[in-house]
Amino acid sequence: MKELVIFYFSGTGNARRVTEWFSDEGRLAGYNVTTINIAHHRMVPNPIPPQALIGFVSPTHGFNYPPLMLHFLFRFPHSFFRNKVFLMNTRAGMKMGKFFLPGLSGVALLLAALILRIKGYRITGMRSVDLPSNWISLHPGLKQNVVTSIFGHCEGITRTFARTLLNGRKNFRALLDLPQDLLITPIALGYYFIGRFVIAKTFVASRACNNCGLCIKQCPVNAISMVDNRPYWSYRCESCMKCMNNCPQRAIETAHGLLAVTILILNAVIFAAIYSWLPNKEVHISDSGLVNGTVEFTLQSAVLFLVLTITYRLAHYLKRFRWFDRLITYSSLTKYKFWRRYKAPG
Ligand SMILES: Cc1cc2nc3c(=O)[nH]c(=O)nc-3n(C[C@H](O)[C@H](O)[C@H](O)COP(=O)(O)O)c2cc1C
Ligand code: SF4
Ligand code: SF4
Repeated sequence: MKELVIFYFSGTGNARRVTEWFSDEGRLAGYNVTTINIAHHRMVPNPIPPQALIGFVSPTHGFNYPPLMLHFLFRFPHSFFRNKVFLMNTRAGMKMGKFFLPGLSGVALLLAALILRIKGYRITGMRSVDLPSNWISLHPGLKQNVVTSIFGHCEGITRTFARTLLNGRKNFRALLDLPQDLLITPIALGYYFIGRFVIAKTFVASRACNNCGLCIKQCPVNAISMVDNRPYWSYRCESCMKCMNNCPQRAIETAHGLLAVTILILNAVIFAAIYSWLPNKEVHISDSGLVNGTVEFTLQSAVLFLVLTITYRLAHYLKRFRWFDRLITYSSLTKYKFWRRYKAPG
């Protein structure tokens, strides 16, 4: 029997749904289908079944695959049978009037394709699917009727793509976005090394939290722990948005106010002090702009992480005081009713 194995990761259900649609088509085409959620099965299967068609499905985070998926791909074994592979990413789709708007992949599929090509796999398909954006730290969740409409649109796209590949043909539709994807490579790098850690330190639980522990239990990377009887987010967080969207008490907020104050302190006080001191000192260790740039970037990042860690920890301690908790909660845009959470249908 023909084998289809799909490895997937999903924060809020979009990539999981794409995996289900593809699997359905696989079964209809007579394949024996296995789907593996890599958040639950970190062990890479070895050996890969010979002749199996292998798929990877994941959301896009910061114009790249999330680190969980990237690291899984790095650990993935070499193919001795030159297995066929397809790659899919779900992106931040939107809808304006009748028009479905796409998200941006950046290097997500390109990097994954490169890693697997080096490991001896044959890439036969690459496709982005523009399911609703779940990034509710940035914008309110889409209305439920819009979400349902985008899902209907994307199901057809996914099933058509699946049938093409399952019939032995190729489809590289994702490569049409190549020029814009390459242009945003620097932002993808910035997100991987800096951005995702900043986002991890914006999550807070308000007083509405009843310590049910669901967020801790469901987090795919065990990034949340109870500190002083309240959920505390570590740098391990992948910002997948699962906890924030699933909290039954709607108690998890993105602390926009706290982030704004942290950035203000960082720029107006700490960096300003460092730069007023630096010109008198010998900081240019080489004439090379690249070396100076790298040294400056490393120093700035180190200061950023230090300040972020301290302010987040301090804010967590101070949240035991009602006035401070209110300050943090009410300066979070996500607190307000119009800021919907994202719910994938079903
Ligand atoms: C932290 C974060 C970063 C994101 N970055 C991107 C991005 O760079 N490009 C994009 O199109 N969508 C981006 N998105 C949107 C998600 O990739 C998209 O909503 C995806 O379908 C979610 O899939 P999931 O429900 O399986 O987690 C981002 C979402 C989050 C939470
Ligand atoms: S899921 Fe919500 S209510 Fe439950 S512990 Fe987490 S933040 Fe608190
Ligand atoms: S802490 Fe929340 S956002 Fe971060 S990885 Fe876990 S579930 Fe996802």
